[in-house]
Amino acid sequence: MAAGLDFVDLPSLSAAVHSCRRCPLGHSRTKAVPGVGPAGARIMIVGEAPGQNEDQQGEPFVGAAGKLLDQLLGGIGLSRADVFITNILKCRPPSNRDPQPLEVEACSPYLEQQQRLIKPEVVLLLGRHALARLLPGYESISRLHGKVIVKDGVTYIPVYHPAAALYNSFLMGPLGQDFNAVKAYLDRVDERRRVLAAAATPVLKPEEQLTLFG
Ligand code: URA
Repeated sequence: MAAGLDFVDLPSLSAAVHSCRRCPLGHSRTKAVPGVGPAGARIMIVGEAPGQNEDQQGEPFVGAAGKLLDQLLGGIGLSRADVFITNILKCRPPSNRDPQPLEVEACSPYLEQQQRLIKPEVVLLLGRHALARLLPGYESISRLHGKVIVKDGVTYIPVYHPAAALYNSFLMGPLGQDFNAVKAYLDRVDERRRVLAAAATPVLKPEEQLTLFG
């Protein structure tokens, strides 16, 4: 862990991101974009980097890709209030170019700390950059999208990036299916919880019920 980057909560982490100068993007950005969502979110969504709209507003996914993300979440019964959304990079790369390895390295302590503080049940990796950072050495997004992958005790589901589907409409169907896979995973977790809770609840025999309430 880089010195001074061990945060007690999300607000102190966000404050550090807003004054961060760990890489040149800290000098070229308009606003830093730490991420938004409740500290107790079940789902953490990791995109690539802020674009122009995000850079101006200081919030992730507020442009066209964000609208599509909202629709995809709505389609599986979720809204932004249910998820924590952030990016690999917290500042916009000039002209929306790909994140550079040094920028990713400099920024990654923030993402690691967000994961540690939120402890989400599942981390959605939006697109190839998030996949490459959090599951390095794994296969490509075209092979892994929609699959549940557990690494070091963390559950990940890589999905296509909404911006990729806006660019290539052939990805729209697979992207919808990716989100259905997320819902199926969450439903399985809920079902297992119900089964475990039921198993832990003692079932009273009729004569015991009489002893208690008769
Ligand atoms: N694309 C991303 O990856 N992140 C954003 O915040 C917006 C668009």
